[in-house]
Amino acid sequence: MRKKEGKWKTLDGVLDEIWKMLKRGATHYHDPFHWPVLGTTGKEGPSMRCVILREFIEPDRVLVCHTDARAAKVQEIASFEKVSWLFYHPKRKVQLRISGRAALHAEDHFADRQWAGTGISSRLNYCSIEPPGTPVDSPSSGLPDFLLHKAATLLETEKGHQNFMAIACRIDSMDWLVLQVLGNRRIPL
Ligand SMILES: Cc1cc2nc3c(=O)[nH]c(=O)nc-3n(C[C@H](O)[C@H](O)[C@H](O)COP(=O)(O)O)c2cc1C
Repeated sequence: MRKKEGKWKTLDGVLDEIWKMLKRGATHYHDPFHWPVLGTTGKEGPSMRCVILREFIEPDRVLVCHTDARAAKVQEIASFEKVSWLFYHPKRKVQLRISGRAALHAEDHFADRQWAGTGISSRLNYCSIEPPGTPVDSPSSGLPDFLLHKAATLLETEKGHQNFMAIACRIDSMDWLVLQVLGNRRIPL
């Protein structure tokens, strides 16, 4: 722990640590930074939801998550590109808040590259017949019959491609906070 605190004494040290945590979060399923909260602004005001951090492109400082093109957040981002992210690492007691501008990618080179990297279980998220959030008479996954009751193949989940969207958010600013017994430390970056 003391070694880590040493890194946190300089701005460069903190920045370096943040990039490492984001990179780890994007690639490690069990890392708390894999599961951030994404905030958007809608007609009714702020709106937040859990997402999965799919990639962190360090040279461009871009955070990437995936979504269904029919989801409410897509319209919200199309109307107002400014978004916020909340990351929390309970073991390290690190909170990272990020503000940035989000771009929506569908059926372009960026989206196709992201789609190519997704597995079958993720692709199923985009295969529902009705848009996400559509009210139904009884609880249902919304998946078509041919994808139920059997393991889907990669080819079968290709149907989800048309509903797939990648959200790429360029980081504008960050607020890093670590809770410590001997005093909390916070840096706006
Ligand atoms: C652990 C967890 C991870 C999630 N990851 C994603 C994700 O990566 N992308 C996504 O669109 N929705 C994800 N969701 C669902 C969203 O939280 C949300 O319910 C859904 O996207 C609809 O949000 P919207 O109506 O604001 O668009 C996740 C939910 C949970 C609980």
